[in-house]
Amino acid sequence: ALAGLDLKAEINRLRKEKNAVILAHYYQDPALQDIADFVGDSLDLSRKAAATEAEVIAFCGVKFMAEVAKILSPNKIVVLPDLAAGCSLEDSCPPEDFARFRRAHPDHISLTYINCSAAVKAESDIIVTSSSAEKIINQLPADQKILFAPDKHLGAWLNRKTGRDMLLWDGTCIVHEKFSVTELLKLKAQHPAAPVLAHPECPAAILDLAHYIGATSGILDYALNSPEQTVIVATEPNIIHQMQLKAPHKTFIGAPGADGNCGCNTCPYMALNTMEKLYIALRDLSPRIEVPEDVRIKAKISLDRMLEMAG
Ligand code: 13P
Ligand code: SF4
Repeated sequence: ALAGLDLKAEINRLRKEKNAVILAHYYQDPALQDIADFVGDSLDLSRKAAATEAEVIAFCGVKFMAEVAKILSPNKIVVLPDLAAGCSLEDSCPPEDFARFRRAHPDHISLTYINCSAAVKAESDIIVTSSSAEKIINQLPADQKILFAPDKHLGAWLNRKTGRDMLLWDGTCIVHEKFSVTELLKLKAQHPAAPVLAHPECPAAILDLAHYIGATSGILDYALNSPEQTVIVATEPNIIHQMQLKAPHKTFIGAPGADGNCGCNTCPYMALNTMEKLYIALRDLSPRIEVPEDVRIKAKISLDRMLEMAG
């Protein structure tokens, strides 16, 4: 039924008609990044969602991100083009198991990565993103005992960076776990001058090969500002779209998986959102994100702490 529609024009029309803002994560399909009012990392997107005056937030990202938008802006309609756009980290941390983990360690506070469900946020003390975690940890007393969930690689990297000994939940991102050390070493040998930029969701063996480790926003800044002509990017490859837009003269190479190709690292959840589904979401104001009010109020406390401590 959508055949022949000019999706770009229709989305632009609906955005005005519905007083909507379109937010997109760097891992979204380039067409969605291009039509968004704002593209950013998880922290930037949370801030935008909290501050927007629009009546509708069309969130091109995964479900936990759209939930954050709803938690911070409960009076707005928040739509997600595909409700099945989840996250392996969220899946690894069911709320009941998380509550049990907390009960087993009553003397620990819980610092929780934003990649989790609203219910887990509601049971957490402070939420962090990869761009804000270090700054937030450094504001906590040195002897403060901390649980960190759900990403064990991000947690291990934060332990190394901050000298803490946080207890780690056993979750991983299926995308960042797929990079191959052998193939990355081969690629580095072919491009000896190229810095490797990696997201801290990567396992330690990949991070050990990186020149810069940081959130998507940090990786993007480094890629744009580094003097090297060629850069190797160890995170979801759709971020390369922003790099190419802003520095078309440079060469950006996605870090390889076991097959030597970077495409295998595309996030399958992020990829569920498409221009067609964004059009339908704006047209029908559905599918909507709803968060039960008791969960929302508790989750907002831990999210507000993040926004406050991240500065
Ligand atoms: P950031 O954009 O905060 O670095 O998060 C990356 C990510 O994996 C989101 O799912
Ligand atoms: Fe989750 Fe990994 Fe996809 Fe990010 S890239 S949404 S952490 S599965």
